[in-house]
Amino acid sequence: MILIMRASGVSTLILLLCIKGVITSGPHWKPTWPTYKVPVVLPQSTVLLAKPDFDAKANLEVISSCGPVCHKHFPLPTVNELKEYMSYETLYANGSRTETNVGIYVINSGDGSQNSGSRGKSRRKRQIYGYDSRFSIFGKDFLLNYPFSTSVKLSTGCTGTLVAEKHVLTAAHCIHDGKNYVKGAQKLRVGFLKPKLKDGNKGTNQTNPSLSEKMKFQWIRVKRTHVPKGWIKGNGNDIGMDYDYALLELKKPHKRKFMKIGVSPSGKVLPGGRIHFSGYDNDRPGNLVYRFCDVKDETYDLLYQQCDAQPGASGSGVYVRMWKRQSQKWERKIIGIFSGHQWVDQHGSPQDFNVAVRITPLKYAQICFWIRGNYMDCRDG
Ligand SMILES: *[C@@H]1O[C@H](CO)[C@@H](O)[C@H](O)[C@H]1NC(C)=O
Ligand SMILES: *[C@@H]1O[C@H](CO)[C@@H](O)[C@H](O)[C@H]1NC(C)=O
Repeated sequence: MILIMRASGVSTLILLLCIKGVITSGPHWKPTWPTYKVPVVLPQSTVLLAKPDFDAKANLEVISSCGPVCHKHFPLPTVNELKEYMSYETLYANGSRTETNVGIYVINSGDGSQNSGSRGKSRRKRQIYGYDSRFSIFGKDFLLNYPFSTSVKLSTGCTGTLVAEKHVLTAAHCIHDGKNYVKGAQKLRVGFLKPKLKDGNKGTNQTNPSLSEKMKFQWIRVKRTHVPKGWIKGNGNDIGMDYDYALLELKKPHKRKFMKIGVSPSGKVLPGGRIHFSGYDNDRPGNLVYRFCDVKDETYDLLYQQCDAQPGASGSGVYVRMWKRQSQKWERKIIGIFSGHQWVDQHGSPQDFNVAVRITPLKYAQICFWIRGNYMDCRDG
C-alpha cells in the first residue's frame, strides 16, 4: 500500500508509522470476519406511486447535530417500525416509482433510532481534521486496479462502489433529500475512470503526476434505484441518518471486479480499529482520494470517525480487509457507506465527526435481496 501512493512528505511519514504499528501489534493474530445470523427481508406487496418531481437540490453534505451520545439514547425500534424503515421505494429510468413493503422473518436486536429532534444552529465545518491525511491515487495501474477500481462517480456528484456485476452502493442523500428526489436522479449515470489515451504518454510528470496519465469518465445509465423508507420517512433527520444508503442497478454490466458487502463488525474488532474508503472529494476534482482512519465511536447503525473528507466523497463504500476462514483468504468487504459530517455540541464543547452508515444484518439482508433477487443467497453476512 505504501508504494502505490504519492503524498506529501508528512502524510507519507504518518502512513509509514501507522503501518509499522500494525505489524508490531501482533504478527500471528489474524483479524477474522465474524459470521452473522442474517435475517430474511422479503417483499410483501408493491404499489405504484405518483411520479416524483425531481426538484430537490443535490446537497452533498448531510449535517446532523445528533452525535453518538444522542443516538445511543434512541429507544429500540419496534418490529413494525423496522418493517417500515426497511420498506423501500424503487425509481425507474422512465421516472415511474413504486413502494414495496417488506416482511422481516428473524429479528436481530437493534438499538437504532427514534427522532430526537434537537438540531444545532451554529456549525463549523472541519471535515479536514488537523492535517490532511488523504492520498490522491495516481497512475492507471492503480486507478484501474482493485480495490480503487471499485470506486465510481455518480452524475449527482457523489461516490459509489461496485458491489455486484450491475450494482452500485451509495448514500441515499445523493438521490433523495428525504422529501424529494434530487434533480438528476431520473437521468442518473455512473462514471468509470478510463485511460484517455490507448497507449503512449507513459512518462511520469514529476511536477504534477495527475497529468501524466490522463483519465476520463465513461458513463453508464442507471436502470433503477432503491432507497429505504427509513431515509424517506426520516426526512434526512437524525433517524434518517441510520438509513442513508441506496442501491443503483446499471443498465448493463460494468465488467469490473467488484467488492462484496458484509455485515459491519464492531469497530473494536476491525484491524487496527480502522476503516478505509476512496472517493471523489470535491476539493480535488478528477482525483480519486484514498484515506483510512480510526473508528472513534459507534452505535448499532453508525460508525463515527474523523477521516478527512470533503462532500464529493459521500456515498463511498467503507471497507476493511480481514481473514475469511471458510476460504482461507484475506478478503475486503464493504461494511458501511460514508454519509457525511455531524457537528455535536456537548455541553458547550463542540465536537465533530464524520459518519458512516453501518451495514447491519438487516440492511445486509435488504441490500443483498436487492442485488440477488432471492434470500437464499443472502444468509451469510
Ligand atoms: C416504467 O418502467 C418500469 C420498469 O421497466 C415498467 O414496469 C413501467 O411500466 C414503466 N412505466 C411507464 C409509464 O412506462
Ligand atoms: C507537467 O505538468 C506541468 C503542470 O503541472 C506542466 O507545466 C509541464 O509542462 C508538464 N511536464 C511534462 C513533461 O508534461
